[in-house]
Amino acid sequence: MIKITSFILVVLLSIGHLFAKEGMWIPILLEKYNLAEMQKMGFKLTAQDIYDVNNASMKDAVVIFGGGCTGELISDEGLLITNYHCGYYNIQSHSSVENDYLTEGFWAMNRDEELTNKGLSVSFLEYMKDVSTEVFEGTEGLSEDEKQKKIKENIANIKKDADVDGKLRTSVKPLFYGNQYFLYVYKIYTDIRLVGAPPSAIGKFGGDTDNWMWPRHTGDFSLFRIYADKNNEPAKYSPDNVPYKPKKFFPISMKGVQPGDFTMVFGYPGRTMQYWPTQAVDITMDQRDPDRIKIRDKKLEIIGADMNADPKVRIQYSAKHAGISNSWKKWQGEIKGLNRLNAIDKKIAYEADFKEWAIKNETWDSKYKKVFNEFETNYNIYKKYVRANDYYSEIVFRGVELFRLAAMTDAIINNLENRQTEKVIAGRKSMVKYLPRFLKNFNQPTDEKLFAELLPMLLSDVDKEFLPAYYVEMINKTGSDKLVEKVYRKSILTDTDKLKKLLESGSDKQILKLRKDPIVALYNSFKLKNEMDISPELKAATTNITADMKIYMAGIMEMKKGQALYPDANFTLRVSYGKVEGFNPKDGVSYKHYTTLSGIMEKDNPAIYDYDVPDRLKELYNTKDYGKYTVEGEVPVCFTASNHTTGGNSGSPVVNGNGELIGVNFDRCWEGTMSDIMFDPDRCRNIAIDIRYALFIIDKFAGAGYLLEEMEIVE
Ligand code: ARG
Ligand code: GLU
Repeated sequence: MIKITSFILVVLLSIGHLFAKEGMWIPILLEKYNLAEMQKMGFKLTAQDIYDVNNASMKDAVVIFGGGCTGELISDEGLLITNYHCGYYNIQSHSSVENDYLTEGFWAMNRDEELTNKGLSVSFLEYMKDVSTEVFEGTEGLSEDEKQKKIKENIANIKKDADVDGKLRTSVKPLFYGNQYFLYVYKIYTDIRLVGAPPSAIGKFGGDTDNWMWPRHTGDFSLFRIYADKNNEPAKYSPDNVPYKPKKFFPISMKGVQPGDFTMVFGYPGRTMQYWPTQAVDITMDQRDPDRIKIRDKKLEIIGADMNADPKVRIQYSAKHAGISNSWKKWQGEIKGLNRLNAIDKKIAYEADFKEWAIKNETWDSKYKKVFNEFETNYNIYKKYVRANDYYSEIVFRGVELFRLAAMTDAIINNLENRQTEKVIAGRKSMVKYLPRFLKNFNQPTDEKLFAELLPMLLSDVDKEFLPAYYVEMINKTGSDKLVEKVYRKSILTDTDKLKKLLESGSDKQILKLRKDPIVALYNSFKLKNEMDISPELKAATTNITADMKIYMAGIMEMKKGQALYPDANFTLRVSYGKVEGFNPKDGVSYKHYTTLSGIMEKDNPAIYDYDVPDRLKELYNTKDYGKYTVEGEVPVCFTASNHTTGGNSGSPVVNGNGELIGVNFDRCWEGTMSDIMFDPDRCRNIAIDIRYALFIIDKFAGAGYLLEEMEIVE
């Protein structure tokens, strides 16, 4: 009897696990769709413990950190933890040769030593609400254009009503491709101070080589503190501000993780494309990803070589290199993963099922046939124009950096020609202000190499009809090597002293003469070509696709009526749940679910910048001075779990069944990066830093153990 019961239980549990992991769920709908399953998997609390408007709940301890990350509160004195890479910009901005916090780390040993961060904010979600009815009010029977206008109007009113005092940030976002709309209301704090960050040899350990990879040993965390005025309300920086008292903060679990343990990630996933039609997936894996990888191969090769040759260039280009490499590597994993999943066949099969359902419903001929025909037409157009757009974007708009100065100059000239005097003055001022920042991380020989290698790619890879005649003539006549000479030697933009003087005190006539500057002229020809012949067509195709996507999505929702369905991520608060587990990345290989300090020592290599283990950490390792942060004699470092996450989830709390913090999310495993488009429960894993490693670094490595006193640590 007992045997049979437990057998059934095992079957039930494994079914639960099978279906559980995919999805980024809406916090206010958990009760309806997910709670039963979550509890079956080991979640011991209620849906109100996660999200509640009237009482303190976990959502009050989760914030948008800066512009694109998540962070969470870990004390009742405003202490916040997020990723090292999320705080990197701020940590770097406090660093100088004398105070090299990147190399040494930074730890405030008391509140007075905490560092203020200009421009940094955290956003607390006050509440979210389904406002679909209000958004669609009065739109019935209107033409598509009128409808969009009315929707815009309704949204503006909803936002106004939600923020009578003008103190909150409101946003109304479409879900399910515009079939629903949700209102999000945030309170924003702007006095955010840096409390602690490990050296980058810990916070970025493994660098771009280990990025997206398992086994991983990155101590990817940093600490900040939120300050408020005396009433606990947002306030500009002031020495009189006091630590913010949160409604809720996460207790920290010392219990650690076992395979099969329930995990929940609560944060702000940026963008997923789970409902894309076949054509979109095909263009991504067959064209867009390969195009951008190919261009970035070149960029990384050039920048990487110069970084290796010169320590100054290494510092100048490290953040840029990391940024270029991050997506470059993800796209490669994405293509591999989609191929392995036979994603195209799966999409085709899904659409065949949909068609069958629609035929049965007698809606195929009247409604969806047209949608799929239009997908075919519009994606054909899209495919052609998006290639040009990707090349322009990677090479002209975000590749060769001198084009950035050219773009600013071009804008000033345009405003001058249009007699927009105020804009001209503002443009000149802001460019003067921007120059030192630009130059700090600019090495002209590197940029020249980028120009010489990247510009010819336009000629060889992009359809002639999308290239400006000016450029084609120039490169054909001069050749790319000579063109570099011509542009960089002749342009005034490379003589920044002269440029600065000109911007500060040059006459209008002198500014207008910059029209003929070789890099400005070249930039202008690309810009105009893009505005005339690429961007409008691309936009039109995208608008049509979006309109059809709304109809298709409505159909999917009807077909799946009664089943739990999650909307694609749109940088709003979501819950993903899963369990602690390793995986098999390929035939014959099996990955454990965690890594340890010993693994850091195995990777130690003082000759390689990203693997140069700090002496203090070695010392702790050699003397086994681990304090209470051990499992079976080892310090845990990272773990993997099967939560559906994406960019933006960086810094998200990873929580156990009791709602205690066990880790901080920071990455995904490479073999599963196709999860933005198609999830595979066998290979999609998120990566978190084990919270005990963060505590170990704070306490034993940095000697900032006083910070632990304000945390609630559950032994
Ligand atoms: N892959 C992670 C994310 O997508 C971490 C990126 C930062 N680290 C790096 N080595 N580039 O953001
Ligand atoms: N590192 C990513 C971020 O900054 C998270 C990794 C992912 O894409 O899942 O949000």
